[in-house]
Amino acid sequence: MHHIWLDCDPGHDDAAAILLALHTPNIHLVGVSAVHGNTDFKHTVANAARCLYAFGAPEAIKVHPGATKPLLRIARHDPEIHGADGLGGVEGLPPASAPEVLARIAEGPKAIEAIAGAIRETWENGAGEKLTIVASGPLTNIALFVSLYPELLVGVEQIVFMGGGVGVGNRSSVAEFNILCDPEAAQIVLDAPVRKVMIPLNVTHQAIVGPSIQARLLNPSTSVLPTDQASSPLRHTLSTLITFFKDTYRSTFGFTEGPPLHDALTIAYVSRPDLFSCTRYRVDIELEGKHTTGETVADVWGYQETDDTWGVTGKNCDVALGLDVPAFFEFFLECVAKCDAV
Ligand code: BDR
Ligand code: CA
Repeated sequence: MHHIWLDCDPGHDDAAAILLALHTPNIHLVGVSAVHGNTDFKHTVANAARCLYAFGAPEAIKVHPGATKPLLRIARHDPEIHGADGLGGVEGLPPASAPEVLARIAEGPKAIEAIAGAIRETWENGAGEKLTIVASGPLTNIALFVSLYPELLVGVEQIVFMGGGVGVGNRSSVAEFNILCDPEAAQIVLDAPVRKVMIPLNVTHQAIVGPSIQARLLNPSTSVLPTDQASSPLRHTLSTLITFFKDTYRSTFGFTEGPPLHDALTIAYVSRPDLFSCTRYRVDIELEGKHTTGETVADVWGYQETDDTWGVTGKNCDVALGLDVPAFFEFFLECVAKCDAV
């Protein structure tokens, strides 16, 4: 069983990650925190709470609010992709003001202390079991955590984050959105002496929700669109989510087949690392570039050959570059079916 903490900025694909975190058999979701990112902080907190409720989370799992802005830079959001409130076009979720949503927002502690508490609970009271930290948004909360609680890294199995790209970006030629939002935070995380796994655009752009997957999402008994109505309210919600995301990916990036399910791959990696192929590189963030700020610079030619096992020199990050795409989507659809059965 993998105990995980999910730090997110929902976001359409973050919502998919929340669903997977709740309904993947070998994953135990310990807690959730929210960070600025796809939309402003107020909405990411509310959206995470809306998803927890809609996807059947146990009441004990609440959203712990984290950083409202990047460490140094001005917050940026992405309404072009996710709509003004971060979950544009998604039907069937309760509104942010609903009592059942408000009940999912923790009054305290805040994200950083909550992550520390979860590690103490898992490590010290859980017979030495470690916690995996999963990040599907900008890395501000995680950078603050590793800076404030370095002594707790002994209880962290790995930090798995969606972000970056090897030679490819989406919010500049070479910078990916999550890293570009808070590049200093990303460098702090990469420097932390703990295992890091990067799930970059190179691999997330392989996980495209095409028409046949969307049809099966809407109604598991078909793989052809157009199909009849969704076979459940959950499936209607997920299909509206994919439709909005598909439209913005088409209009913004020219993706014709469907949208990439970026953040869902973080949870898939924790549960099924066998679906991925990874290479360990030295990865640093471009913090001062004239054209390249926020680039994840991977040392693909091995100029820094040393491997000091997650130290601050040498290779510091496992980078996922290959994915068994059909197996990933079977995994995804099985988890949706489990959520649907609750
Ligand atoms: C990342 O940025 C956001 O648009 C998504 O939620 C994902 O985390 C992809 O670049
Ligand atoms: Ca995200």
